[in-house]
Amino acid sequence: MKFEKEINRRKTFAIISHPDAGKTTLTEKLLLFGGAIQTAGAVKSNKIKKHATSDFMEIERQRGISVATSVMTFEYEGFLINLLDTPGHKDFAEDTYRTLTAVDSVILVIDSVNGVEDQTRRLMEVCRMRDTPVIVFVNKMDRDGKNPFYLMEEIENELKLTLHPMTWPINSGKDFKGVYNLSNKSLRLFAASTKGEEDETTFAISDLSDTILEAKIGERDANQLREDVELIDGVYGELNKEDYLTGKVAPVFFGSAVNNFGVQEMLDTFITIAPVPRSRETSMRLLEVGEDKFSGFIFKIHANLDPKHRDRIAFLRVCSGRFERNKYFHHVRLDKDIRFSNPYSFLARSKDVIDDAYPGDVVGLFDTGSFKIGDTLTEGENFFFTGIPTFSPEIFKELVNKDPMKTKQLEKGVSQLTDEGVAQLFTQFGGNKKIIGCVGDLQFEVIQYRLLQEYGAACEFRTMPFFKACWLTSKDSKKLEDFLRFKQQNSAADKDGNPVYLAQSEWFLNTEISNNPDIQFHFTNEVNK
Ligand code: G4P
Repeated sequence: MKFEKEINRRKTFAIISHPDAGKTTLTEKLLLFGGAIQTAGAVKSNKIKKHATSDFMEIERQRGISVATSVMTFEYEGFLINLLDTPGHKDFAEDTYRTLTAVDSVILVIDSVNGVEDQTRRLMEVCRMRDTPVIVFVNKMDRDGKNPFYLMEEIENELKLTLHPMTWPINSGKDFKGVYNLSNKSLRLFAASTKGEEDETTFAISDLSDTILEAKIGERDANQLREDVELIDGVYGELNKEDYLTGKVAPVFFGSAVNNFGVQEMLDTFITIAPVPRSRETSMRLLEVGEDKFSGFIFKIHANLDPKHRDRIAFLRVCSGRFERNKYFHHVRLDKDIRFSNPYSFLARSKDVIDDAYPGDVVGLFDTGSFKIGDTLTEGENFFFTGIPTFSPEIFKELVNKDPMKTKQLEKGVSQLTDEGVAQLFTQFGGNKKIIGCVGDLQFEVIQYRLLQEYGAACEFRTMPFFKACWLTSKDSKKLEDFLRFKQQNSAADKDGNPVYLAQSEWFLNTEISNNPDIQFHFTNEVNK
């Protein structure tokens, strides 16, 4: 393998969580360990404020800043780690889903007080579709959280994930005394630290019956820990790395990100077991990560709304070979060779022009409208990367043109914005209405604003009574045609002409599914089929 050394030192991952569980705080601690930032608080300032839901320009401004931290690259113990940021705001969930197609593993943060929350469920569904390896970090152990056994059960049941504890907590809240590391058999006493360094609170305890345990945590907690560990050892045994790598088992760590406690244990395990970039499926064949020739795909497009800095950055994940500046690569969909004179890499808080990049890396490409999500670049071969799904929107509104003189501009604008992945466009079969589907309300404001500012097209939105879009397929084309005709008001074509059923409610959806056994209802759609 020509680039073996570069490939084997890269780990590309994302941290996912329900807002407020501690993703930003954990990110910051990892960057401190990696020496990518020197002070606490550096990441925080780039975060989209969760509560600023009404002012989308303010959110966009913050998103603009956060482009610089879209990918945070740092070195740790000889590894080059690419941490892909995912927006905390729920209205940008699509961005997160797509980012998950570009990573090789994830760290899932769970708040020990709140347990499994909404957003966590959805994000894990996406991970499961791809069998993405997951490490769980149970955060906020310094608060009175749920009993760790209950919490594990909740996570296993709700997220359909088999867990494997790597550390075990001794109490929580104000009685939190620390964690016992089940694999290297050491006790780490809880002490708040905000720096990325080890402290003097770790003790090796090869035999849990050793009375040193009483001396360190008191008799009651020592006995409880012995009992817990006996139970855990009996159930779990050693972690099977292969089960982790295939997404079947998720190692779990307990800690407190804000106190930088339990983070290093997790990071050390992460660099040992997390996967390096792997081979990927394409429309033609399995693309081996070690192939000499370059290939990669666009997983996210960021457009800056600030009229003073209007630019679009397409994020490319390198999948094989070497990406080089100024070299011509083949844009498969457009059947066109293009080169990039200013490709960016993202180091924490700054953008740098780079000369080359390897599998696992993410490169930012300036884009003037030639990319859409899922586009593939190669050294000449014609294939597309697969496994890049589109999800059903959650809010649907009719797009109403307010200025018939600007119909062309409106169409062009909508087409480009949907290429970027800001929203999805459906055309209703009965009545030909244009329906825009988004994950959050904020996107409708963004679309209206951008259509006017960038394309001079005025529009408004009318609420539609749909809650989900399902893509339809059937071996029996006649049955599908009949269904679409009978259900005209609920049928539409997506932007690429695929038939879609728009359901008013769960009840309607389930009824149609059971009444039409010859038609398959899909909750996601492949971008590259
Ligand atoms: P997010 O990115 O997942 O949305 O969460 P974030 O890191 O912003 O954390 C959400 C809140 O939880 C923050 O408090 C943060 O300080 C706090 N937090 C993170 N880790 C821990 C922990 O281990 N223990 C405790 N007790 N709190 C933790 P905030 O008040 O919203 O923000 P700030 O004023 O502290 O910045």
